Amino acid sequence: MISRTAKFVKVVEVGARDGLQNESAPVPAAVKIQFINRLSATGLRTIETTSFVSPEWTPQLADAQEVFESIARRPDVAYPVLVPNVKGMQRALASGVKEIALFTAASETFNRKNINASIAESFERFAPVVELARDNDVRVRGYISCVLGCPYEGPVETGVVADVAERLEHLGCYEVSLGDTIGIGTPHAARDMLETVARRVAIRKLAVHFHDTRGQALANILACLEAGVAVVDASVAGLGGCPYANGATGNVATEDLVYMLHGLGVETGIDLDALIDAGLFICKALDKRPDSKNGRLRWDAPRTGENE
Ligand code: HMG
Ligand code: MG
Repeated sequence: MISRTAKFVKVVEVGARDGLQNESAPVPAAVKIQFINRLSATGLRTIETTSFVSPEWTPQLADAQEVFESIARRPDVAYPVLVPNVKGMQRALASGVKEIALFTAASETFNRKNINASIAESFERFAPVVELARDNDVRVRGYISCVLGCPYEGPVETGVVADVAERLEHLGCYEVSLGDTIGIGTPHAARDMLETVARRVAIRKLAVHFHDTRGQALANILACLEAGVAVVDASVAGLGGCPYANGATGNVATEDLVYMLHGLGVETGIDLDALIDAGLFICKALDKRPDSKNGRLRWDAPRTGENE
């Protein structure tokens, strides 16, 4: 099989959004702000910050405005936020957001559970949001959930994923992230899905977003890297999950992804030590062991010492 692995891969850090949205106990805004500021010092170029969604649906991110307005934004880092509708867009614009992510799915049932809309209705909602984005010089990214399977409908046709991806691109998304929301995919299926979509949307405009529910995320990413994808979403310490997809655990851990990429000779611009520190910071604040192997090496080391 020909390898088309890129020399540089952009890592999109989603821990402050996809990661924290799934935490049931409220995380203070001050912790989120420090977490994002630490991530900003690691060399990451894109840090998804929060969501301007309904606070009834995702209470953990009800402090979106305070968090976004308080972080120390670096000029060389993008800080996208999730926006589901015009109301969210108006809130995001009032906070000075410069990049948003729209999100829909390749499954009707999942979309209904996640955003209370069919796929078609989600696009009706997006149109005025994109118009506002254009008028205000805001970049727009797109997400598709359930690209390899749905927690409610089971298998998902890759042709549907390609249709939705093409619609998002036509709408004006500069990049479309393909989400394996429930971590159900395996490497050949992941690569096949990516290649089907890439026949309709240029691969340089595609990103992959793997949750690691079944331990397949790194293998899936490697398969997609070899097919030429050059943008990968990840969550430091493997935080996360989708509250509207039962059993979905966190994204691939950013530390483990970066370790693999550097080992492959792929550049990321990221300082792995600083990234591990940011992961340990948030894990201490959440009082949970990191779900990243590289983070655990550091997390467990002093504890083992104490017990000896
Ligand atoms: P709805 O209840 O149908 O909304 O929710 P509505 O338009 O009927 O409005 C109901 C009330 O909510 C109104 O208030 C609105 O003003 C308010 P009321 O008049 O009753 O006082 N409202 C809002 N308030 C603040 N900000 C807003 C907003 N919108 C309405 N933006 C809605 C529809 C889309 C809003 C809701 O379903 C929602 O917020 N869903 C988001 C759920 C979510 O956060 N999911 C996780 C993110 S997606 C994900 O994790 C997957 C991803 O990682 C990729 C992958 O892994 O697959 C991206
Ligand atoms: Mg996700």
